[in-house]
Amino acid sequence: MTEETQAFNSALPQHVGIIMDGNGRWAERQGKPRVWGHKKGVDAVRKAVSFCRKLGIPSLTLFAFSSENWRRPEDEVSSLMQLFLFVLQQEVKVLHKNQVRLNIIGDLSRFSPGLQESIAKAQALTAGNTGLTLNVAANYGGRWDIANAAQQLAQQVANGTLQPAEITEQLLSQHIQMHDQPELDLMIRTGGDIRISNFLLWQAAYAELCFLDTLWPDFDDQVFADAIASFVRRERRFGCTGAQIRELAAGSTEGQ
Ligand code: IPE
Ligand code: IPE
Ligand code: MG
Repeated sequence: MTEETQAFNSALPQHVGIIMDGNGRWAERQGKPRVWGHKKGVDAVRKAVSFCRKLGIPSLTLFAFSSENWRRPEDEVSSLMQLFLFVLQQEVKVLHKNQVRLNIIGDLSRFSPGLQESIAKAQALTAGNTGLTLNVAANYGGRWDIANAAQQLAQQVANGTLQPAEITEQLLSQHIQMHDQPELDLMIRTGGDIRISNFLLWQAAYAELCFLDTLWPDFDDQVFADAIASFVRRERRFGCTGAQIRELAAGSTEGQ
C-alpha cells in the first residue's frame, strides 16, 4: 500500500457485514450432503468473530438465513434450524467470556418457540458486553427491515404523535436494524456471486462491496485480511470529489 492510498482511507472498517455463501457447493464438491457444508461454515464463523475481536472492529453482521431461504427443501431448512439452535446453545458461553454482545436481527416470529427462547436468553446474557457486537441476521431481509421501520412510523402517525411531513431519512434510519451501531463500512460476499440477495439494503447505501470467489467454509484470517486491505486502499468519496477527500485527509479545511 502506498502512502497516498493510505491517506484516503486509513481507518479500519467499523462495521463489516458478510453474506456467508457457498456452503452447499463446498460440500457438493466433496461428494458430501449440503448440511456438511453448513456445519463446516460454523468454523469459519468462529474465525471471523475472533479476527474482528483481534482487530478491534466493533460490529460484525453475518447473514445466516434469509427471508427467502425458507424456499429450500424442507430437510435443509430443518437441518439449518437445528444447527442454529445447537450452535447458539454451544457458543454463547464462549462469546460471553470474550465480551461479545450477541444481537439477532430479522423477523424472529417464524422460529420455533424453543429457538426464540434460546435467542432471548443469549441476547440477555451478553447484553452488557462491550467488546464486539455480533449481529446474526436470521429470517432477515433488507426489504423486511425497511417495511418494519415504515410500519413503526405509520403507527406513530396513526396515534397522532407524528406528522407525515416529519418523516425524514434520518427518522426512518432510527427504526432500521442496528441504527445504534457504526454505519456499515464493508460488505463482503463469499461464494462467487455478485449480488446482495436482500441483505442490508438500507445500510449498504455507502458501504464498500467486496465479492470473493472463496466458498464460506474456506474463509480464514488471510482472506479476511485481504478484504480489509482492499477496503483500506479504496477512496470513499461520499459524493465529493477526490480532491476534496484528499484535502480533508491532509487535515486542511480550505475550500470548504
Ligand atoms: C449459504 O450457503 C448458507 C445459507 C444460505 C444458509 P449456501 O447454502 O447458499 O451455499 P451454496 O450457495 O448453495 O453453495
Ligand atoms: C444469501 O445466500 C443468504 C445467506 C448467505 C444466508 P443465498 O444462497 O440464499 O443467495 P441466492 O439465493 O443465491 O441469491
Ligand atoms: Mg447460496
